[in-house]
Amino acid sequence: MLPRFVRPTLSAAQGAKRLSTSARHDTKVAVMGASGGIGQPLSLLLKQSPLVSELSLYDVVNTPGVAADLSHINSAAKVKAYTGPEQLKDSLKGVQVVVIPAGVPRKPGMTRDDLFNTNASIVRDLAQAVAEVSPKALVAIISNPVNSTVPIASEVFNKAGVYDPKRIFGVTTLDIVRANTFIAEAKGYDPATTNVPVIGGHSGITIIPLLSQAKPSASFPEDKVKALTGRIQEAGTEVVKAKAGTGSATLSMAFAGARFAISLIRALNGESNVVECSYVRSDVTDAKYFSTPLLLGKNGVEKNLGYGTLNSYEQVLLKAAIPELKKNIQKGEDFINKK
Ligand code: NAD
Ligand code: LMR
Repeated sequence: MLPRFVRPTLSAAQGAKRLSTSARHDTKVAVMGASGGIGQPLSLLLKQSPLVSELSLYDVVNTPGVAADLSHINSAAKVKAYTGPEQLKDSLKGVQVVVIPAGVPRKPGMTRDDLFNTNASIVRDLAQAVAEVSPKALVAIISNPVNSTVPIASEVFNKAGVYDPKRIFGVTTLDIVRANTFIAEAKGYDPATTNVPVIGGHSGITIIPLLSQAKPSASFPEDKVKALTGRIQEAGTEVVKAKAGTGSATLSMAFAGARFAISLIRALNGESNVVECSYVRSDVTDAKYFSTPLLLGKNGVEKNLGYGTLNSYEQVLLKAAIPELKKNIQKGEDFINKK
């Protein structure tokens, strides 16, 4: 069964009843890179949500086909296609949430940072358009390297004079989804109700799972903690290797991206206690951007909940992550400011 946040209407009749009552909301969501490996299943999950009233699909290729296909699904969200730079601004008109999975994925042997040269300018140009057309939207960036693309988008907004650090998010939800799955597997828990916070950034040693804060609590011998932590940090590479040159995580990322986007919408709709980890502008550590659990609200980040108490192993992980994060952040900022 699909989890609560993506559960579709079960039948046309039930759906109509549900949409005519409290589940009806008017959130317009744009997916930038909607024809891609992530973009398509992410758009499908958003199309299923009764919280989405309109889905704006933008890509440089193939959006008419994706939109025609999705538009036959009997859920309320209206689907519209936009293709190529000349339709970019139109795709962003009136949107409250923008999700960005545009850009190239890794092949075996590559790091996420190896994607910088291609993806930095893609995210810069999309962010420029969002800053012009929908500067108040909540922006969720999936494109890698997330540690650098969030600073890139932030600098673009800053230069445009519309930067609100509470509204720009790096999507790290897949790290939490993976941590929940692996810890639940190891303990025999239900993965759907296991929650493991993951802080820091989204690459290798910058991914810091806080097993000590797992709920339900989950203690392991030291060697198992190290093995689980290493697996969570390298889970993206596990998928890249398994896909053998055809790409990186797409389906699990679509699931995670939909969870994050729908959490943003729930918060926009005034729901209280919506908490997600995300990579945002932060003063929690020395790194300017850092992921921690965040209380989400109508204006994006309502409160940064910080990372709580770390055990000695997690403190070592944090110390190792900060220099790498700072380097990735500087690289993103320099890309915009040192031209
Ligand atoms: P993909 O190649 O299947 O799809 C990317 C899509 O982006 C394509 O449809 C392409 O046409 C489109 N695109 C390219 N340039 C564009 C532009 N200027 N404007 C709009 N769209 C454009 O790749 P994918 O597997 O969907 O991965 C996309 C990105 O997401 C990659 O950078 C990948 O590394 C990243 N990713 C991040 C996470 C995460 O946890 N944050 C997880 C998985 C993948
Ligand atoms: C992931 O964690 O799956 C993504 O960041 C894609 C990748 O390159 O590993």
